[in-house]
Amino acid sequence: MSGHEEPAGDEPAASEPAAGGLAAGPDAPEGAALPRRPGHPAPLGPGETVVLHDRKERRYLVTLREGGQFGYHGGTLDHDRLLGAPEGVEVSASKGARLRALRPTAEDWTLKAPRGAQVVYPKDQAMIVARGDIGPGCEVVEAGAGSGALTAALLRAVVPGGRVVSFERREDFADVARRNVAERLGPVGDAWDLRVGEAAGALGGVPCDRVVLDLLEPWELLDDVVAALRPGGLLVAYTPTVPQVMRLHEGLEASGAFAGGDTTETMERGWNVKGLSVRPDHRMVAHTAFITVARRVPEPG
Ligand SMILES: C[S@@+](CC[C@H](N)C(=O)[O-])C[C@H]1O[C@@H](n2cnc3c(N)ncnc32)[C@H](O)[C@@H]1O
Repeated sequence: MSGHEEPAGDEPAASEPAAGGLAAGPDAPEGAALPRRPGHPAPLGPGETVVLHDRKERRYLVTLREGGQFGYHGGTLDHDRLLGAPEGVEVSASKGARLRALRPTAEDWTLKAPRGAQVVYPKDQAMIVARGDIGPGCEVVEAGAGSGALTAALLRAVVPGGRVVSFERREDFADVARRNVAERLGPVGDAWDLRVGEAAGALGGVPCDRVVLDLLEPWELLDDVVAALRPGGLLVAYTPTVPQVMRLHEGLEASGAFAGGDTTETMERGWNVKGLSVRPDHRMVAHTAFITVARRVPEPG
């Protein structure tokens, strides 16, 4: 089996305790259900997903199974070589290439997990959570869920005490989101409510304190956002192009139910650090999308 393997399903394996993943919190015991966070004290076990790093920093997500095999251009690697080993172990594949096995970070999951729709990259996930003031206890409504990358970041932010209601109009994308969130966070219990269907006309029926929109025409949903958001709550919209930002600002102003409306973009530039060659990378992801944040306020009386 090469590259990323399909998860076994949304349910924890029968041999695992019921509570685990996001629901278990940082003090989960060693035997708690998968997934285990990076740095967990347990050795690598069957059913765990690891990220294999080669010497050129290419990364491969692999779910470990007894008797399983990972294959890539550098040869093959028996999963059994990793099972029972400490996280971070380095082993040789059949053609001699070295591979290091680590538990995946949120960034690894975002960049390497299967995707239906385009995902929100980690730099923007972080800014959406920070600029949207999304933390434990928040009630967030999201549209659309897409591949679930942003959903996972929102869920990690709101637990404990909060919840995320996600709308996704495409059944196939909702399936991808469901699988990605289950594999990455484990059981999330009542913290996540994924609703497959159109957000327009439905989102407004979910009272909340944060709305996060990552879809083509966020201005079309402003009446719903006004109905859903309690005064003082925040709208965060993620839009790739300038015309979208302009239409959104026009809509915010016309509604009279928002204050602020600040738009930013976030640029992240990697650095090459090798001996005396310490310089910015030649290539970078120069543009992803703009983040606009506005506050819901009572309409003028
Ligand atoms: C760019 S993707 C979202 C990606 C997601 N934030 C992630 O990080 O994986 C946009 C998604 O919004 C969904 N969508 C667009 N308009 C929608 C609407 N009015 N109601 C529900 N879902 C919608 C699309 O089907 C698509 O999956």
